[in-house]
Amino acid sequence: MNGNRQHLRLKGCQALVTGALGGIGMAICDLFVAHGARVWLADLESADSDKARLALEQFGDAEYLRLDVTDRRDWDRAAARIGDRLDILVNNAGIAPTGEMEDLPLEQWQQVMAVNCQGAFLALATLASHLERAGKSNDRWASVVNISSILAMVGMSQASAYAASKGALRSLTKSAAMEFVQGERPIRVNSLHPGFVETEMTRAGSDAMSEAGDLLASLGRETPMARVGTPEEIAFAALFLASSESSFITGSELTVDGGWTAR
Ligand SMILES: NC(=O)c1ccc[n+]([C@@H]2O[C@H](COP(=O)([O-])OP(=O)(O)OC[C@H]3O[C@@H](n4cnc5c(N)ncnc54)[C@H](O)[C@@H]3O)[C@@H](O)[C@H]2O)c1
Repeated sequence: MNGNRQHLRLKGCQALVTGALGGIGMAICDLFVAHGARVWLADLESADSDKARLALEQFGDAEYLRLDVTDRRDWDRAAARIGDRLDILVNNAGIAPTGEMEDLPLEQWQQVMAVNCQGAFLALATLASHLERAGKSNDRWASVVNISSILAMVGMSQASAYAASKGALRSLTKSAAMEFVQGERPIRVNSLHPGFVETEMTRAGSDAMSEAGDLLASLGRETPMARVGTPEEIAFAALFLASSESSFITGSELTVDGGWTAR
């Protein structure tokens, strides 16, 4: 994607995206770079892995951080490395174990809560000052985009832990937004709720939940728009929430689901 120089919506912005090497993360980084942002890609792979190296080659104006979102020390290291300001934070890292509640080990429940919700809490707690400095240094507020899910709003069998973690992330978003506004800190916080999108996560879930491995296809058929979404369609919504085009939106939620939750 080549950003037209006159329409660079994130020009001069510094952004950090977690889970950057996954399907939706890569699409968000790609679009943010195309719109003029300098992006920090954060994920579990080591910095000298092929995946991290190839991503950096692809994006050009980008840096890589090996960062486990559940680990406070990793966040402290990231805060020290990225300098004194951050305009955009996208809490996108996520995992989605599936299974019926009676079969789900407690450790898996705790891990999904740690990655999908605690990770965003640690990011906000560690980087609030960076975001505040960015928000105060120009006329645009800093922006945090929390990638939740439609499963924060509607239920699904075999997805209890995942859905609970995404519901918690939705609630965290609203209280964080209010805390920053009340503290007169120029930081907006919103959640983005994708429907079903074809990535490694849904391909793996589809294989695990369906013997025929065709769950993803049937979720597409069940979606009112009769297909699953693409990572790029989620990235465009993240771009809107990250850019100052959404300057009057905070504590809100944006659903991108082909109509799934409208029924
Ligand atoms: N794909 C969908 O249908 C869908 C729907 C709704 C919401 N989401 C959400 O979108 C986000 C991205 O998912 P995706 O579909 O691109 O999945 P993905 O599996 O392709 O990418 C997830 C990325 O998160 C990283 N990650 C996992 N644990 C981590 C940790 N502890 N620290 C840092 N990084 C970690 C993985 O390494 C991976 O690169 C997730 O939060 C997911 O829950 C996805």
